[in-house]
Amino acid sequence: MSTSPQLHILVGTTGDTALHAAQAAAKVLDGYFASIVITLLGEAHGIGLFGSGSDSGSPNRVPAEAGIGKAYIVCSSTYGHGNVPDNAQAFLASFDLEPAYLGHVRYGLMALGDSSYGETYGAGARLIDAKLQDVGAQRVGDIFEHDAASDVDADEAAALWATTWASAWQ
Ligand SMILES: Cc1cc2nc3c(=O)[nH]c(=O)nc-3n(C[C@H](O)[C@H](O)[C@H](O)COP(=O)(O)O)c2cc1C
Repeated sequence: MSTSPQLHILVGTTGDTALHAAQAAAKVLDGYFASIVITLLGEAHGIGLFGSGSDSGSPNRVPAEAGIGKAYIVCSSTYGHGNVPDNAQAFLASFDLEPAYLGHVRYGLMALGDSSYGETYGAGARLIDAKLQDVGAQRVGDIFEHDAASDVDADEAAALWATTWASAWQ
């Protein structure tokens, strides 16, 4: 349905596995989107990445049209018993601190983890997923999962997933 929006990939990582997977996906997705921006999440990043706080002065007043024309992928690994990596903590917390309706946001999800951690496997990305769904955002396509305990190469898997995700997006 969309005609070449910008794709914004938001990355939570500690050891860069998620970053490299995001970059591998971006290479494949390059032909599908007008441009691609990969953002390594940090202290300064919050829900405003989806358009809030632009010029409203109030994070509660997200313009409904703010995210139109943009596609999103959230790509995160998992740490601390099912939490997001440190660099994504502020982003995750912002959903509670800066509540906003993100009904205009459609996004893909890339969840990286290690199945040897049992029930917290891949939970970091899923925490963000739950927050996004709580505020009305719509997940598109299948969730990319990567298990560090497997012998699957994260970059190769991400590239494969990206083609399917691009079809789901359109
Ligand atoms: C201290 C530590 C805690 C971790 N906790 C979890 C966890 O609770 N659940 C999970 O699925 N993976 C967990 N992992 C595995 C990482 O999420 C996995 O290795 C991932 O590929 C790392 O990606 P990154 O290099 O992008 O940070 C943990 C890894 C470390 C080193």
